[in-house]
Amino acid sequence: MALRVCLAGATGWAGSELARALAGAGDLDGGAAVGRRHAGRVLGDVLSEPRLTGRVFASAEEALAIPCDVFVEYTHPDSARSHILRALDHGAHVVVGTSGLTEEDFAEIDASARRRQRGVLACGNFALTVVLLQKFAEAAARWIPQWEILDYAHDDKVDAPSGTARELAFRLAKVRMPEPTVPVARTVGPPESRGAAVSGSQVHSIRLPGYVIGAEVIFGLPGQRLTLRHDAGDSAVPYAEGALLAIRKVSTLVGVHRGLDSVLDL
Ligand SMILES: NC(=O)c1ccc[n+]([C@@H]2O[C@H](COP(=O)([O-])OP(=O)(O)OC[C@H]3O[C@@H](n4cnc5c(N)ncnc54)[C@H](OP(=O)(O)O)[C@@H]3O)[C@@H](O)[C@H]2O)c1
Repeated sequence: MALRVCLAGATGWAGSELARALAGAGDLDGGAAVGRRHAGRVLGDVLSEPRLTGRVFASAEEALAIPCDVFVEYTHPDSARSHILRALDHGAHVVVGTSGLTEEDFAEIDASARRRQRGVLACGNFALTVVLLQKFAEAAARWIPQWEILDYAHDDKVDAPSGTARELAFRLAKVRMPEPTVPVARTVGPPESRGAAVSGSQVHSIRLPGYVIGAEVIFGLPGQRLTLRHDAGDSAVPYAEGALLAIRKVSTLVGVHRGLDSVLDL
């Protein structure tokens, strides 16, 4: 039987791409959707995709009245926490694409999911090349004690560093802390020129027209260098593919798991 999916944020940039991917997946059934501006309409009419026959509801509570197996949260940091807790109350497993949840939010969500024996899979970036970048970088950090991170994005991105760069620094810190030859505090000249310290890594954020989102980590050893880099194009297709995988696998989990590699055999 097809997994029934409720998609919150189905009319947004990332969510609409995922909705189209759901329409083409025979084993998944995009039942209800959440989005305020198009509430009351059939999602397929909004997205010009006749295979999406579910309705758009103004709130998660209304959409969850229609039974679903997996709830996908793809809205906004302000609404994500309450949507996820509400979905767990209704017995759904949850896939989280929305950024901005705090460690405290995740602790509360984890407690609720464990009480109900449900899985929550939260991925700061569903793109497969980001997942691979993270894994390869973790392996490199086990052998190489010095690295720096570059964070590339479009000129009108207001936040820095990106969630992708933050997550990378966070994961590398779990492997080890970098050991710079000259600590930043002993820099001769403006210390800002060495970037921002994020979870112990120096991160350099570049904001220029012509970039979408990219993340690069450079590892250095005497006489040799390793560069790992992810570049996103301007479509949301890579996130949809990763999210489909998360939807199919989340019911194998209990509690909160972070990162798509939780369900990939890497
Ligand atoms: N994990 C990943 O790989 C990945 C990839 C891309 C984006 N993201 C993250 O996903 C989130 C959404 O990004 P986006 O670019 O798709 O945003 P977006 O284009 O603004 O879409 C947001 C969607 O959520 C709905 N929405 C917003 N607030 C809502 C609320 N309170 N109640 C119900 N519906 C609400 C919007 O519809 P209405 O305004 O009509 O309600 C819209 O459908 C962001 O946090 C972004 O950083 C993650």
